[in-house]
Parts: sequence; C-alpha cells; structure tokens
Amino acid sequence: MKYHIKLDKSMIEGSEHVILPGDPGRVKKTALLLDPQAKPLASNREFTSYLATLNNKKIVVCSTGIGGPSVSIALEELAALGLKYFFRIGTTGAIQPDIKVPSLIITTGAVRLDGASTHYAPIEYPAVADIEIVNSLIAGAKATDSPCHVGITASSDTFYPGQERYDTFTGYVPKKFQNSFEEWKRLSVLNYEMESATLLTIINTFGLHAGCISVAIVNRNKEEAPDDSILEKSEQDLAIAIKKALEYHIDNYC
Ligand code: URA
Repeated sequence: MKYHIKLDKSMIEGSEHVILPGDPGRVKKTALLLDPQAKPLASNREFTSYLATLNNKKIVVCSTGIGGPSVSIALEELAALGLKYFFRIGTTGAIQPDIKVPSLIITTGAVRLDGASTHYAPIEYPAVADIEIVNSLIAGAKATDSPCHVGITASSDTFYPGQERYDTFTGYVPKKFQNSFEEWKRLSVLNYEMESATLLTIINTFGLHAGCISVAIVNRNKEEAPDDSILEKSEQDLAIAIKKALEYHIDNYC
C-alpha cells in the first residue's frame, strides 16, 4: 500500500495510463466521462483516485494537488505501481496576447521555475514532453471547438510572485520575478501553470512518458481571475480532449 495515494498494485488492475488533474474534485467527473461504470479507489489528502475502463484498457485517474512537491509524491508512488503513461490535465493562464479564453495549450517543454524538479535532475536537464503523448493530446484537442496552441510553458512553484502577480498581500514581487512576465512573453512562452516542470522532469528521469494539456481560463494580458462562464466550457473542453487523446494513444501506440 503506497504511503500517500493509498493504492496498491492489485487495485489498479494492470493500468498503464494515468490521468492527473490537480483538483481532487475533478477526479470523479473525469473518470465517469471516460466510463460511466468507473469506480472510486481511494482518497487521502490531495490524492483522490478512480479506476475507469476505456477501449478495454484500465485507466487510473488520480489527483495531484497543486504544485511540484505534491506532484512528485504522486509520481513516485504511481510509477512504483506500474503506471507508464502520465497525462496531466489542468488550468492555466495564457501569456501570449493572441491566445483566446478558453483555448487548449499542449506543453512540449516547460521552463523549470519549480523547486521539486531540481531534487531529481540538475537545472540543465530538459523538462520535455513525450512525443507520442503530445501527438495524442493534439488529436484530443482537435475534437473540441476551441483553439489549440502547442509550445513552451512556464511552470512556477507559486501562483502569485512566480507568475508576477501584484494583486497580493504586500503587492511586492521580488526582483527575481519583476518583468518576468514580459520576458517570457518575448521568449514566446505560451502560458503559466504550476505542475508541468516537475511532471516532465521527473517522468523523463524515470524513463517513462508524460504530457500535459491545459485549458487557458485567463489571458494575463487582460485579466487575473476567470469568469464563471468560462470555467464550465473549459472543463467540458478538457474532458472531451483527454478522452479522445487516450483513445488515440491506445489505438496508435499501445
Ligand atoms: N493556474 C496557474 O498557475 N496560473 C493561472 O493564471 C491560472 C491557472
């Protein structure tokens, strides 16, 4: 029985694919969309899990919580149980001004602004996505009616200073991050989120396969917080995209 996720090998019934939302509240919905007969497995702290069946393959859906440290725990324990293909789904803030909300963003590589990945590999080591998972996520995104962008993500340990937000308690952003938004924009980075650097670095060090699709719920050139009407459509887009992406991956690569 794994310490934090409270799963053992028998519970995942030979699954090789895992979907990783950050939010435990999104696990049940995601699993039931893949398979109306999906069953709950465990729930401990930020780690809630379900088991679904899709195209005769068992699929685990397991939340990671927000940010690198809790992602690293989930990855360690899931990989030890035999999971091989890690598909992260989440929300993000767009950096490029032309990205509409909602849009899907598929990460090919992440700027490592996190700390957890540095416990696994030096900062020179690339946080890159698996090409077959990227291809599958592109196929998934095309099944929605929202725009899709593919490229580099800035992945930060913090939602506020690391993403250069000034709507904070002190209103101060340390020097290290002042003007970083403009810098990433100039360097063609698409978006900010908080998990992909840790996910992609760690899974590459394990010799396994990972990718990340996010839905832009804000464009940081225009707003800091999302509109409720955007959230519903965003969740729907992610659900359609991840189901199609898994089907594509199972059909073409497994
Ligand atoms: N998640 C983030 O990390 N940043 C955003 O702006 C939105 C979601």
